[in-house]
Amino acid sequence: MIPESFIQELLNRVDVVEVIDKVVPLKKAGANYSACCPFHNEKSPSFTVSPTKQFYHCFGCGAHGSALSFLMEYNGLSFIEAIHDLAKQVGMIVPQEKRDPGQPEAPSKAVMLSLQETLQQAAAFYKAELKKSPHAIAYLKGRGLSGQVAAKFQIGYAPAGWQNLQTIFPGYEAEALEIAGLVVQNEQGRRYDRFRDRIMFPIHNQKGEVIGFGGRVINPEDTPKYYNSPETPLFQKGHELYGLFMARRAIRDAGRVLVVEGYMDVVALAQYGIEYAVATLGTATTPFHIAKLMRQTDEIVFSFDGDKAGRTAAWRAVMNALSAIKDGLKLRFLFLPAEHDPDSFVREFGKQAFEAEMDKAMPLSQYIIQHLSEHNPMASQEDKVQFLNDAEPILKQIQAPRFAMLLRKKVAEMTGLGEGEMQRMLKLPNPAKTQQKAVRSRSRTPSSLHLRIALILLMRPQWAKPDLLEQIMGESDEENMLRQVVKTAITQPQSRPVVLLQIISPAISQVLSNQLHRELSLLDESLDFTLEFEGACTQLSDMALAARDKSLLGKLTEKPFSTLSDAERESLRQLTSKR
Ligand code: UTP
Ligand code: MN
Repeated sequence: MIPESFIQELLNRVDVVEVIDKVVPLKKAGANYSACCPFHNEKSPSFTVSPTKQFYHCFGCGAHGSALSFLMEYNGLSFIEAIHDLAKQVGMIVPQEKRDPGQPEAPSKAVMLSLQETLQQAAAFYKAELKKSPHAIAYLKGRGLSGQVAAKFQIGYAPAGWQNLQTIFPGYEAEALEIAGLVVQNEQGRRYDRFRDRIMFPIHNQKGEVIGFGGRVINPEDTPKYYNSPETPLFQKGHELYGLFMARRAIRDAGRVLVVEGYMDVVALAQYGIEYAVATLGTATTPFHIAKLMRQTDEIVFSFDGDKAGRTAAWRAVMNALSAIKDGLKLRFLFLPAEHDPDSFVREFGKQAFEAEMDKAMPLSQYIIQHLSEHNPMASQEDKVQFLNDAEPILKQIQAPRFAMLLRKKVAEMTGLGEGEMQRMLKLPNPAKTQQKAVRSRSRTPSSLHLRIALILLMRPQWAKPDLLEQIMGESDEENMLRQVVKTAITQPQSRPVVLLQIISPAISQVLSNQLHRELSLLDESLDFTLEFEGACTQLSDMALAARDKSLLGKLTEKPFSTLSDAERESLRQLTSKR
């Protein structure tokens, strides 16, 4: 395992501008550099690289990161490979960390490589086994699958029995088999195949390499219906989409992608000529999924099952997509009749009917409004307040200015409030103004106090002091984020913004991490932040003071006045006169 401190040191030394400029020629634009974004199609440059902050950010598709993540994304390198590549560029030698005797060794590059080979071999084995199993073939035929489409998706079969993989892996004890999620070890130390008597769907990464499997039971009594590979160093469910590798061309040709819930849906749709479908892997749609898809196309149609679980999943997808969407991205939701999923629908009604449904799918804004008003009759003033309260966190997460404006208009209409009135009630930033400002100066005032302080500290970590921590009272995501920033800045006062971000990211939500990146990209680094920082810190300590007063006031007013001591009565008098 490579020590974290080495990675930080590396990122403090490399020049992201140099690294990117080698493959994507950059032009100087003010304090930054810019180019047309290599991660999505565009005609005017919205990809910027900052030499001070040492990261890149695309205002079009939201792609962002360090020199390290650039090499991974652009060249398709693994984390370890990217570190070696980068270290070579600046002449550093990658150390190997001594391992803690109690800890299992983290997989090295050699293990990663053999992981890859192991999975590839297993996929070939399962595929060959399918040909030998009349029982599995009959199942697939029974579900209407053609041999052609089964071959296209490299569908296989894991035979019944406990240790079939031993026939191709004589070293059945090898660690790689366990890390790859192919073999499980029970408490007695007995090892056996994870997948038994299941139809196997290999999951590929964007390079077409097998990184995991989904296995479906044949026998309807067996559970669970689908069993997936566990997360491994190669396979993170929240990042991968089933079928994306196979669908890439079709997505480009169709100009849209269809996101469904199941393996079988992807396969059946492809058989019926809809080859641009992908599936999440038994997890909710994540912002990573959205970002990944946005790099391929600007229209995403989600199809969820018509049942309750499908609707819950759809709403979760909305919440995860909000921060990632940009103007120009079309997100739509297709709800099939409750008794159907895409597989059964396309089989019964065919490609044309399915695509006609897709064309009628509900736009995101309409879906949000419908969902918010579903259980709200909007009859009384209270209903409308409830509606506004429900809409507020949604409106605040949207970064795309036109989309935000459109949705605000709709919410205002629904509540009978003027837009300005609503704006004031919810204290929403004005997206048009902030955007104009952003375009003019690439700098804007972020919405929250905590965010503002965090941004300044990322630029000026030497200003972080322990007493700042005492002023952060609550446990909200933003407060926890600021706490992380302060702590990290105190220990790393010399680090570049990108390094600090890298350290805190795992501890904060994806939404916040994206927001920090974006706001930091917009921050004009030539400014002197002294006054703003002082002002913000004063505001923070005022807030902390008020919170303490409030809790004291609460305690004092709980007790009957007659039982209060003189000192307590005096505090109470002061507190109430202050209010
Ligand atoms: P569904 O239960 O909707 O199944 O699961 P399906 O796609 O219609 O499958 P068939 O048609 O019965 O074969 C949708 C997805 O949820 C995940 C799988 O990724 C599946 O494709 N899932 C489902 C699991 O991971 N485990 C399960 O037990 C069930
Ligand atoms: Mn199904």
